[in-house]
Amino acid sequence: MKVCIIGVGYVGLVTGVCLAEIGHNVICVDNVEAKIEKLKKAVSPIYEPGLEGFIEKNLKAQRLKFTTDIKYGVQNSEIIFISVGTPSLSNGQADLSYVEAVAAEVGKYINGEKIIVNKSTVPIGSGDWVSMIVSESIQKNNPDKNVKFSVVSNPEFLREGSAIGDTFFPDRIVIGSSSKSAIDKMLELYSPLIEQSFDWHSIDIPRLLPKGQKVPVVVSDLTSAEMIKYAANSFLATKISYINEIANICEKVGADILKVAEGMGLDSRIGPKFLSAGIGWGGSCFPKDVSALAYIANEYGMTPQILNSIINVNREQRLKIVKKVQDELKIVKGKTISVLGIAFKPNTDDTREAPSISIMNSLINLGARIKAYDPVVKEKPQTLSEKVILSQDVYDSIKGADLLILTTEWDEFKNLDFSKIKSIMNNNIIIDGRNLFDREKLLKLGFKYIGIGR
Ligand SMILES: NC(=O)c1ccc[n+]([C@@H]2O[C@H](COP(=O)([O-])OP(=O)(O)OC[C@H]3O[C@@H](n4cnc5c(N)ncnc54)[C@H](O)[C@@H]3O)[C@@H](O)[C@H]2O)c1
Repeated sequence: MKVCIIGVGYVGLVTGVCLAEIGHNVICVDNVEAKIEKLKKAVSPIYEPGLEGFIEKNLKAQRLKFTTDIKYGVQNSEIIFISVGTPSLSNGQADLSYVEAVAAEVGKYINGEKIIVNKSTVPIGSGDWVSMIVSESIQKNNPDKNVKFSVVSNPEFLREGSAIGDTFFPDRIVIGSSSKSAIDKMLELYSPLIEQSFDWHSIDIPRLLPKGQKVPVVVSDLTSAEMIKYAANSFLATKISYINEIANICEKVGADILKVAEGMGLDSRIGPKFLSAGIGWGGSCFPKDVSALAYIANEYGMTPQILNSIINVNREQRLKIVKKVQDELKIVKGKTISVLGIAFKPNTDDTREAPSISIMNSLINLGARIKAYDPVVKEKPQTLSEKVILSQDVYDSIKGADLLILTTEWDEFKNLDFSKIKSIMNNNIIIDGRNLFDREKLLKLGFKYIGIGR
């Protein structure tokens, strides 16, 4: 089938590349020319394990094209995905200006019957709203006033860092629309994934689904599909905030959160995932999606008590790390602190709403000197204080530090040479914000080890 993806970021690029890999003809459109130029040369603008190989393969097979020409993309496809960003406004509401701009452009150029798919995470009711924007734009700008289209909500659940595997082997596919024919077309598009009939042997990533198992599909109305995405992300964020609150109680009563989480997670009704206590959730999805859902509830005169609580628990969790630093160093001003990990989680270069950034900025405000290192993030994010020194080598970032904070649980940090670290640090205090390190080993080596909830 002929597909156009508008917005070639973490979601759009992975979706486009994977749809090409299962045999569709995909045109990926973005308005950032530098990004498209890179992609035409099979260079990925984002760090996502395995992605570049698939870009190269599908470019060569001519199933994948990259362009800044939205008219070309719209007019040469039957299914048009909108996958631009929907960041938070300062009041928590989702910023739909990118979606709006794209919907208007689609309306301008649309020719023949098309399906417009909201892949972006959008507030409840946005499907109808996109329909309205497209219709208005058709009436204003399109020579063919009678052109037909349907809107589908197809929320995305991929995780950065394992986005390719999540796309080929998803837990479920959600399709919401009031148009039966649009739903049927979407089922046809995804059929190789649903049936798992694509050539997954040729894909060099672990197969995440048991052999023979099909991917469940949830077909719903537009509103329910939009709600599923917000409700799922908010639930996952709730799980993390819950375990962080339990971890904070563990610290007071002398329990070990690792044992507590193990004991809880073995209950099949709870499950072990998202029970890792740490410095809180961040990234490009949870913070904005939880806030957007809370905003929607407020719009309907409700007080979303659980959502408000998890937002607060999460904010405080980051502050707790700063408090731990103050407890240890007493005077933070003039002290050197090494921070390991900038990305909001491992295996991605995404630093949006990364807890590490707010922690570093707070410590800079307290007068600390921060040396930070990340295996992949090599340029300073705009939201990070200018004063933070970015090291290109992990041991450089630790040299002379009075305290070390682990903020992102990259594999690289599991195997650090702690004897060397002991010899180059000024003071041997480690705050393990992700409970990644071997506490006993560090204690034996003479470090003061401070974890989360233990
Ligand atoms: N990142 C994730 O892990 C993830 C997971 C599930 C859902 N989502 C949702 O998917 C959506 C996209 O997220 P993302 O992380 O991929 O965002 P992103 O910021 O990485 O990508 C958005 C892309 O859209 C492009 N763009 C913006 N306006 C455009 C326009 N007018 N024409 C063409 N291109 C335009 C930008 O240049 C950018 O490349 C968001 O709504 C997000 O909530 C993200």
